Amino acid sequence: MEVKAFYWKGDHLLLLDQRELPEREVWLKLTDHLQVADAIKSMAVRGAPAIGCVASYGFILGIKKEDPQKVYQVLRNTRPTAYNLFWALERMMKALKEGKDPEKEAMSIEQEDYNANRRMGELGKDLIPDGANVLTHCNTGALATAGWGTALGVIRSAHYSGKKVHVFVNETRPYLQGSRLTAWELLKEGIPHTVITDMTAGFLMKKGLIDAVLVGADRITKRGDVANKIGTYTLSVLAKAHGVPFYVVAPTSTFDPNIESGEDIPIEERSEEEVKSFKNCTLAPKESRALHLAFDITPAENITAIITEEGIKYIKP
Ligand code: MRU
Repeated sequence: MEVKAFYWKGDHLLLLDQRELPEREVWLKLTDHLQVADAIKSMAVRGAPAIGCVASYGFILGIKKEDPQKVYQVLRNTRPTAYNLFWALERMMKALKEGKDPEKEAMSIEQEDYNANRRMGELGKDLIPDGANVLTHCNTGALATAGWGTALGVIRSAHYSGKKVHVFVNETRPYLQGSRLTAWELLKEGIPHTVITDMTAGFLMKKGLIDAVLVGADRITKRGDVANKIGTYTLSVLAKAHGVPFYVVAPTSTFDPNIESGEDIPIEERSEEEVKSFKNCTLAPKESRALHLAFDITPAENITAIITEEGIKYIKP
């Protein structure tokens, strides 16, 4: 059974609560758009394409009782960086205005994302040499999408094509999408991996132990700048310094056609508490200030290629 982050059930949405992983698999039953908005904000579901899909289903639940414009606004105001959220909600509003069946539209958004992931996997797997050690950051797998995954989807496709691939999984402070979610997905499928703390990557590159870096994206600008999980920029600089290929894998629904430069992408700032504590564990003095930027911007110059379902775009051969 493939990992799934959510299931649409006609009158409700079943959502795997990612805050509980890897310890427990808890499924939430969401019956209105306010619950869906809360699940996105609190990161019970996360990952740009998954947020877009789930918001579309939230939209359907909402318009049963509420004015569509209000529902649209509530869902838009959940997280500011991932473009897929806005792309999906625009599509839902347009479908409604054009008299299309909104449920069909949401289901197409989900299916198209899954298809795009499979296609990116097929295209991207050839970039991974047999026997490679790859490094990935955050979680870009089935949990972050409609299924299969973007960067992790390419790794999956390489693995299932028979290549030997070993994955270094950046733990990804502070939400630990790498150690909690990516490692959980890789373990389920028997893909060899090693969790590392975020600061280990540079030294591994220096020792020649990393053949490629693969990451996802939350928003990509017209010139190819990429917003992704905080720490991605640092990895790109390290990769450049060590001559390691740095690949971004994202569907076209992540591309913002209105923004030229990464400077203009809104970066989400989350609560200090998420840095100073984890679950019930205190990690910093209560009185200390903490800065919690959820994303950073990697300039196009640091990226070897962007893999989309429409093809591979080489930025710096
Ligand atoms: O804060 P998150 O967990 O929603 O951030 C997720 C990422 O940064 C992913 O890399 C990105 O959404 C691409 S997921 C296919």
